[in-house]
Amino acid sequence: MDTESWKAAAAREAAKLVRDGMVVGLGSGTTVAKLIEALSELRPDATYIAASSSSERLARDLGLKLTGFENHQQLDLTIDGADEVDPNFDLIKGHGGAHTREKIIAEAARRVAIIVDKSKLVRRLGQRFPVPVEVLPFAKDYTIKKLAALGSPLLKTKDGAPFVTDNGNYLVEVWFKRISNAAKLEKKINSLPGVIDNGIFTGLADVIFAGHEDGCTVLRDRRGFLKFLKQAESKG
Ligand code: A5P
Repeated sequence: MDTESWKAAAAREAAKLVRDGMVVGLGSGTTVAKLIEALSELRPDATYIAASSSSERLARDLGLKLTGFENHQQLDLTIDGADEVDPNFDLIKGHGGAHTREKIIAEAARRVAIIVDKSKLVRRLGQRFPVPVEVLPFAKDYTIKKLAALGSPLLKTKDGAPFVTDNGNYLVEVWFKRISNAAKLEKKINSLPGVIDNGIFTGLADVIFAGHEDGCTVLRDRRGFLKFLKQAESKG
């Protein structure tokens, strides 16, 4: 499985959505890194808002024009990766801990395009990835106890210390036996004290660019998604 070239195919296709003069949100992760590379080659005269320090650094290094979210709270387009995408275009994001800002730039955009390799398409969320939850360090133990009533939480660590997000918070990854109602779970997790936001995104994605061995397929609705997934599953 050459998922790197599949990610690149999705990123290059989605980059074509960007037009001169647009204000575009950039998410985070390895697929978005390929998007930023593609955008730097195409060089449309657009302005970008990055959701993470790593995307911001790469975009700056490659010469994209950047601005802050405080300057443009209405975005024309946001392009981002995902850890899982289901047939309703609901997502799990935040494996890199950037989901809080990613959700903000997705909410604020007129259109949201998601770029993934085909292995990220699932019938039901939570099959392969836990749900990342950004939590306030002050409340860590209390919030983890509350999360344990819903699923199996684990504090994410890096080099033996808690992983710290760009916002200075911790990340807890929660496995659920079964996510049957993503929107309900998203709200329920966010109602817990100490939770900043979680990585379930519902009702935000408009279009999915799925990269695969033969290029990229653009998925615009549930029917197209299920048809593509069936084909992908039969190929293995
Ligand atoms: C970052 O926190 C995430 O939301 C990413 O968008 C997501 O984890 C996908 O990342 P990759 O493109 O690296 O798989």
